[in-house]
Amino acid sequence: MQDIIDDICATMKDRSERGQVANYIPQLACVNPGQFGISVALPNGQVFSAGDAATLFSIQSISKLFTLTIALGKLGDAVWSRVGREPSGDPFNSIVQLEHESGKPRNPFINAGAIAIVDAIMMGHQPKETLAEILQFVRFIANDSSIGIDEKVALSELQTGDRNASLAHFMASFGRFKNPVDCVLGTYFHHCSISMSCQQLAQAGLFLVSDGINLSTGARVVSAQRARRINSLMLMCGHYDGSGEFAYRVGLPGKSGVGGGILAVAPGKASIAVWSPGLDSIGNSKLGTEALEMLVQRTGWSVFGH
Ligand code: DON
Repeated sequence: MQDIIDDICATMKDRSERGQVANYIPQLACVNPGQFGISVALPNGQVFSAGDAATLFSIQSISKLFTLTIALGKLGDAVWSRVGREPSGDPFNSIVQLEHESGKPRNPFINAGAIAIVDAIMMGHQPKETLAEILQFVRFIANDSSIGIDEKVALSELQTGDRNASLAHFMASFGRFKNPVDCVLGTYFHHCSISMSCQQLAQAGLFLVSDGINLSTGARVVSAQRARRINSLMLMCGHYDGSGEFAYRVGLPGKSGVGGGILAVAPGKASIAVWSPGLDSIGNSKLGTEALEMLVQRTGWSVFGH
């Protein structure tokens, strides 16, 4: 495994076409696009890493996987009255379907869906209480109490968050929100601004590899059925309107973020985190996707076979 990821890392370091760093969040536009990291965590506790795998980056939409897991724990199937579970086929920040579908987002991973999930888990609590709960959960699944929020990124998102504010107010206009829109948005921006390394993220994904249990720590996080369902949502919706392309090229459940990270799950085999800040035209990590494609070719880990 170390040889495989060293090879992948060497290939990615040399790539000249690295995509574009997200520029609609000014703080993310400052990140050096020359970086690349990968970590592969196995259920037996072994972790293989290469490149900038210890560097912290903004996990952005990967955090939506964690808030969905928390929401399912708190609300169970009632989550599905707040968001759907179908791919949207539209960009991550699109508003068009919301009008046709009475303010109910297609899935929990597009921005509108993740904002609705925050409203569902707040349950009348203050933003800082909900954020503490989200951070506690992420620290628990990653088995690392040092994980925190990058306040500069959160502020940058807040200052340029007109699109997300529009989505939130539009949903609220259908009477769908139980908490003040500004509290929901502030909480959403902050959970997107959690910083993690590939090493920490790969650890955090382990519960989805082994039927809801992080076998490296022995902690049961969710039931086997719930882990399976979360994986299927990641496969269908985790890369927005690029989900079909990702399934075709990589064939693993995965969740991307505009910080350039991707967390991918090879059920029964490994949790894989990759990071390279340059994005493709859809907003998914360009080299991260290429790296996962190479990894799957070398390991045969695609859920669709060799
Ligand atoms: O709300 C936003 O636009 C960002 N906080 C998250 C978007 C994102 O990561 C989309 N991912 N590829």
